[in-house]
Amino acid sequence: MVLKAELHAHLEGTASPDLVKRLAQRNSMNLPDGLFDAKGNYRWTTFLEFLKAYDLASAVIKTPLDYRDVTYEYLKQCASEGAIYVEVMSSPDHAAMAGMGYQDHLDGIIAGIDDAERDFGIVGRIIVTCVRHLGPEQATEVAKQTIAAPHPYIVGFGMGGDENAHHPSDFSKAFHIAHDAGLACNVHAGEMAGPDSIIAALDHLPIKRIGHCVRSIEDPDLVARLIDEDITLEICPGSNIALGVYPDFNAHPFLKLHDAGCKVTLSSDDPPFFHTSIGNEYAIASREFKLNDQELLDITKCSLENAFADQATIDKLL
Ligand code: ADE
Ligand code: ZN
Repeated sequence: MVLKAELHAHLEGTASPDLVKRLAQRNSMNLPDGLFDAKGNYRWTTFLEFLKAYDLASAVIKTPLDYRDVTYEYLKQCASEGAIYVEVMSSPDHAAMAGMGYQDHLDGIIAGIDDAERDFGIVGRIIVTCVRHLGPEQATEVAKQTIAAPHPYIVGFGMGGDENAHHPSDFSKAFHIAHDAGLACNVHAGEMAGPDSIIAALDHLPIKRIGHCVRSIEDPDLVARLIDEDITLEICPGSNIALGVYPDFNAHPFLKLHDAGCKVTLSSDDPPFFHTSIGNEYAIASREFKLNDQELLDITKCSLENAFADQATIDKLL
């Protein structure tokens, strides 16, 4: 089995429908109306509906033990598919919406990472992530919370959410708070918006990696800039197809970006929402993009070399 690494997975978005049902039961909650379809899969059609379904599913993650279990289950699944390193994006805003404080959500994730490394040998790290459509003030609060309680497992700060809400410059303060405290940064761009969104992110945010960034392919100068500025692309092909960014894998620019010399990596984003997994993303790269095992291993090496964990941690995995 090819060894794998994952740089882009939203922790709350990794919880399977089955786990969400179990957590709802444990917390004596009714399952949110309309969250699942008749087959028991998450129900959504558009990107904004997906974000709403994500919010609803996250609402059942209510205690540190819940966060521990979501983290542990996810890392267990990744390890079973050959992953040796995973960075999970956690959302303190979703924890807060479920009634949990920042430290409680973090304590649960740390316990899940420790237990998974003990049981499966997989190394997990955390990127604390703000939500773009909740606005710059909220993002700044998340950045302040993050740097106020440092932990060796917190290696990054990032931003997801609706790419068409607000301008990257609005989040410059939040990102610089995190970056000045030594956290590496990533941001979603070039997923639900075109090259201008990526250019604005590069112009205004101190980022090393970009989530998705697939629509950079529409602007050759931008592709050259990504190479020149040594930006790593966290590409999630299954997510892009599920969300309709491209109609099929033939139209997906993964191979073009790879062949142009961009640093491309493979990730699963929100696996149960998009019927994927880190193993499936590597299988897509093999089947659809015709990468051989050595090329897949090179992707893993690229992910590890551009991971946000400290060098000693990464050296042990390389
Ligand atoms: N939050 C969770 N998944 C996301 C995605 N694919 N894009 C933006 N924000 C997200
Ligand atoms: Zn994402």
